[in-house]
Amino acid sequence: MTKNLTRTIAGTLFGLALAVGCGAPDSRTAEAVYLDETQPLEKRIDDALGRMTLKEKIAMLHAQSKFSSAGVPRLGIPELWCTDGPHGIRPEVYWNRWDQAEWTNDSCTAYPALTCLAATWNPEMSALYGKSIGEEARYREKDVLLGPGVNIYRTPLNGRNFEYMGEDPYLASRMVVPYIQGVQENGVAACVKHFALNNQESYRLCTDVSVDDRALHEIYLPAFKAAVQEGGAWSIMGAYNKYKGQHCCHNRYLLNDILKRDWGFDGAVISDWGGTHDTKEAVEYGLDLEFGTWSDGMSTNPAIAYDQYYLAAPYREMIERGEASEELLDDKVRRVLRLNFRTAMNSRKPFGSLNSPEHHAAARRIAGEGIVLLKNDGKVLPIDPQQTKKLLVVGENAIKGMTIGGGSSSLKVQREYTPLEGIVAAAGDRMEVVYERGYLGHLATSYNGVDSKQNLSDDRSAAELIADAVAAAREADAVLFIGGLNKAWGQDAEGGDRREMGLPYGQDSLIEALAEANPRTAVVFVSGNAVAMPWIDRVPAVVQGWFGGSQAGLALADVLFGEVNPSGKLPFTFPRRLEDNSAHALGEHPGTRDSVRYREGIFVGYRWHERQRIAPLFAFGHGLSYTTFDYANVRADRKTLSRSGRIRVSVDVTNTGDRAGKEVVQLYIGDRESALPRPVKELKGFSKVSLEPGETRTVSFEITPEALQYYDDAKGLWTAEEGIFDAWVGAASDDIRGSVEFTLK
Ligand code: GLC
Repeated sequence: MTKNLTRTIAGTLFGLALAVGCGAPDSRTAEAVYLDETQPLEKRIDDALGRMTLKEKIAMLHAQSKFSSAGVPRLGIPELWCTDGPHGIRPEVYWNRWDQAEWTNDSCTAYPALTCLAATWNPEMSALYGKSIGEEARYREKDVLLGPGVNIYRTPLNGRNFEYMGEDPYLASRMVVPYIQGVQENGVAACVKHFALNNQESYRLCTDVSVDDRALHEIYLPAFKAAVQEGGAWSIMGAYNKYKGQHCCHNRYLLNDILKRDWGFDGAVISDWGGTHDTKEAVEYGLDLEFGTWSDGMSTNPAIAYDQYYLAAPYREMIERGEASEELLDDKVRRVLRLNFRTAMNSRKPFGSLNSPEHHAAARRIAGEGIVLLKNDGKVLPIDPQQTKKLLVVGENAIKGMTIGGGSSSLKVQREYTPLEGIVAAAGDRMEVVYERGYLGHLATSYNGVDSKQNLSDDRSAAELIADAVAAAREADAVLFIGGLNKAWGQDAEGGDRREMGLPYGQDSLIEALAEANPRTAVVFVSGNAVAMPWIDRVPAVVQGWFGGSQAGLALADVLFGEVNPSGKLPFTFPRRLEDNSAHALGEHPGTRDSVRYREGIFVGYRWHERQRIAPLFAFGHGLSYTTFDYANVRADRKTLSRSGRIRVSVDVTNTGDRAGKEVVQLYIGDRESALPRPVKELKGFSKVSLEPGETRTVSFEITPEALQYYDDAKGLWTAEEGIFDAWVGAASDDIRGSVEFTLK
């Protein structure tokens, strides 16, 4: 029975009860304010709360199935339904299992992974993304979307980096806000995750993260704070790990003090699935809605029924024994009612849509705008049909579906275009396209019962695969190697981290052999993390293609053939070697099951590389175009900034090439001298501009004292010290095109 039908029946029964006066004892009291959507939300919540029994209140605070929690049927308050994930709407699963329920009407559109969205550096793409995925969630009658994730990229080995928005808190903050707003306009709650400090998969369920307050506030919290205070997120998901010895799903510091008291969060804190470990802590340290605790709701064994959840019978018994306050209980119920009234109970929410042409177009556009051209010596790209009559495509990632697998973000798509399909379609009859496997990687094709049924087997040996690819390369006019990582456990997948930063499956030696055989070889990565490139000096072109979702192959071909001029910029640093990364230089990954220490503090990513003067392989913010851009006349409208003032920094950007293109102009701020150590510079502004050949545009940034602040952990507050600051303007963190200095008075 669909939820709508349930609601209709419940509503009718309720209406009947009111009519004949034989319904709930309180139906004869004042009219049901809580059902009247013209009434203020808080008044409706108070009215509903006043009508609920203790049993009904408790039932609302924990799951009743794998992804749903109870409403109040007697009052016509519907259940709440959650769904993964950040990149698309997970297929329906069985009541109490992870496996898909084999519906035939729940295939979805897979949008690009969030590192790709972040790589667009374009908040308009985030808005489009949130609107599109929100429409699919709404159509599938889901009230809470379990995403987006904004955990900071601390190590290239974290299995879930592909689900997040990179290493910089300012970029992640700007890019997460429009996504949330787009989702919530559909009457679907975003559930921003994983709050907080879940920056690796190793020991994620138990390790206690120790991090200094500066890094907590300057690096790991800002994107969550923006999600709450600017994005207006209606829910937040607690992380599995611990902080200060308490699990993040019930954590006094993160949930009570920072999220709800300091940030004024009025939504519901939802546990990660299985992230709740203690009733008293869950009650007192800020958890509102418990999901995923072990149970077998299908069995008749009461010991493991949903009613035995930490916030179920044990909580009710605590209250009945007078060991827990009704006040705390009511605060939790208010928060869940508020979430419910904003979503399931919201009768004005749109109908949504699934797999629409608009959604496919959105997925393709975002993927194309996120692709990063890392290197392009000798203009190997875009593929030129005049010069290329025979194109060789090599690599497993040219044919392997990537929307299945990787953990809870795995999807069942209606259609997934692989890179080879996209390339063949784009080539048309302009050239012959030949394919060679090159290497064998991960042959599995299913996850949670979703199976692409691709047959990826090949009975050739590794040596034969390489020999065949190299022989074909000698005969081709150009070679596209399409490799990278995949969604297998130990690659870009939830639940584990990679063991090393290098490419798996012998790809490095294959790439070297191909480049040796054909100088016009381009390497394209389908991946979500940085990888080592020992062959970088022997390969003229490299493209970071990301996990592009349903339309991945079409979007990639759009860029490789020049239909789309690449405009993506890296949202995280590519170190040359793993030990160039701060967590690994200090030996602080993966830590142990008991603790992991973020000894690098605020020096994460480019902040570390610049402080230690370690040149990266490719820098944060790096990304080339098929055209070129000139920056001129970096200037400020004043030399001093008062505490209440602002400074406007401007630059004139010109497209000096022969084709239209988009450029992400970046603003970094550096504090010449400070009482506490600070990074050389930090991203504090960016603007993506589209320029026709020869066109010049002035790009301006407003700098306020807030952009100059750091978190003084001794005083527990943000502060900006008087003195000289530098504003750097550039095309990447390592490609500064001009700067101005100014003084904060
Ligand atoms: C998983 C993930 C979380 C996901 C949830 C439900 O373990 O950590 O991101 O939304 O459980 O699948």
